[in-house]
Amino acid sequence: MRTQVGIVGAGPAGLMLSHLLHLCGIESIVLECRSRHYIENRVRAGVLEQGTVDLMIGTGVGERLQQQGLRHEGVWFSFGGRRHRIPLAELTGGRAITVYAQQEVVKDLIQARLGAGGQMVFEVDELSVQELDSIRPKIRYRHAGVAHEITCDFIAGCDGFHGVCRESAPEGVIAAYERVYPFAWLGILAEAAPTSEELIYTYHPRGFALFSMRSPQVTRLYLQCKPDEDLNEWPDDRVWEELCARMRTEDGWAPAVGPVLQKGVNGMRSFVIEPMQFGRLFLAGDAAHIVPPTGAKGLNLAISDVRVLSQAIEAFYKLGRGDLLEQYSAHCLRRIWKVQRFSWWMTSMLHLFPGADGFDHRRQLAELDYITTSRAGMTVLAENYVGLPME
Ligand code: FAD
Ligand code: PHB
Repeated sequence: MRTQVGIVGAGPAGLMLSHLLHLCGIESIVLECRSRHYIENRVRAGVLEQGTVDLMIGTGVGERLQQQGLRHEGVWFSFGGRRHRIPLAELTGGRAITVYAQQEVVKDLIQARLGAGGQMVFEVDELSVQELDSIRPKIRYRHAGVAHEITCDFIAGCDGFHGVCRESAPEGVIAAYERVYPFAWLGILAEAAPTSEELIYTYHPRGFALFSMRSPQVTRLYLQCKPDEDLNEWPDDRVWEELCARMRTEDGWAPAVGPVLQKGVNGMRSFVIEPMQFGRLFLAGDAAHIVPPTGAKGLNLAISDVRVLSQAIEAFYKLGRGDLLEQYSAHCLRRIWKVQRFSWWMTSMLHLFPGADGFDHRRQLAELDYITTSRAGMTVLAENYVGLPME
């Protein structure tokens, strides 16, 4: 088999890349180790930046997003028993975030690719990438017990943090920069109508908590827990008790309690590789970087990477220009490091760190007070939260 761009991974990065390439007449094949059903139901991110929304609508995959997405023009920070609103749209010339589940983005992109006759293979096994420093790199894999090989012009490694592509570059050519945080998030999806129309990030002496949602009937909530937290120790009643203890405010606000539909624990890390390329292998999304979820940036960064990559690949085929491909990594990393900084800052400001003392606590409260009362402070938060420019 032969294709122009072989794409490993059908997450938001791989699928959006395949879609963008198709729109400029470039052929690709997407290879995914999980089933279509699995990836269309995997509960993950939920916050789309304005630029991600604009890209989806502008490239014809935004119909359901426009019908079902919840546009939020503000976000709340709760501390010391009170909630404070940051008016995102007012501070950023009308930009906002949209709550729309990652698995819905995945469904919309799969639908668009299949509708356009795109090639996707699910449930592949033993995938490997080869001859990366040649002009004809190859992807080998097995599907339904049969071995296959695809010869490509380029390979896009969009296979997430635990994928195989990043590890396939020879040792020493890619450097990694990392922070692992001494806590994790326990997240639940609950059948309970959201009691706030907008997200609430809570700083509390018992630890961080986050109120989010997926629809007018479904709430998404998170609480800071230990990195090795055992879910068996967290029956639903205990989760609700802890969430309410952290989130309830002086005016009596609290999340509505309801049946828990899903529960999980996710570790927190910051991770970036440099460069995001080796030979004809280009890494994008979680394969190249991880952000702690406090800034709601992972999915959005994956989308901004592949936007840059698709433009560079288009310039190669249409104009014979290789310079944009050469600059891919440096171009993406400038934005990635700003988003890393924001995600690290949000995480540091809002979580309880082991060993923190009264000084740390007061410093965190002062920072929260500043960013919710100073217009300059609020603007810094708002312009990062709705998303820095993609170009
Ligand atoms: P992935 O979505 O991980 O996709 C990679 C794909 O590659 C997967 O489908 C995987 O099965 C496949 N794959 C892996 N290995 C192989 C292989 N060897 N062969 C073939 N296929 C392979 N981000 C936000 O922006 N906002 C949020 O609110 C947010 N909340 C989050 C909450 C949670 C609980 C979690 C876990 C993450 C959250 N994120 C959030 C992060 C976001 O989900 C990721 O950043 C996003 O999925 C990255 O997309 P991706 O396409 O790069 O990688
Ligand atoms: C979510 O809705 O899943 C969500 C929202 C905001 C975050 C992280 C996750 O910062």
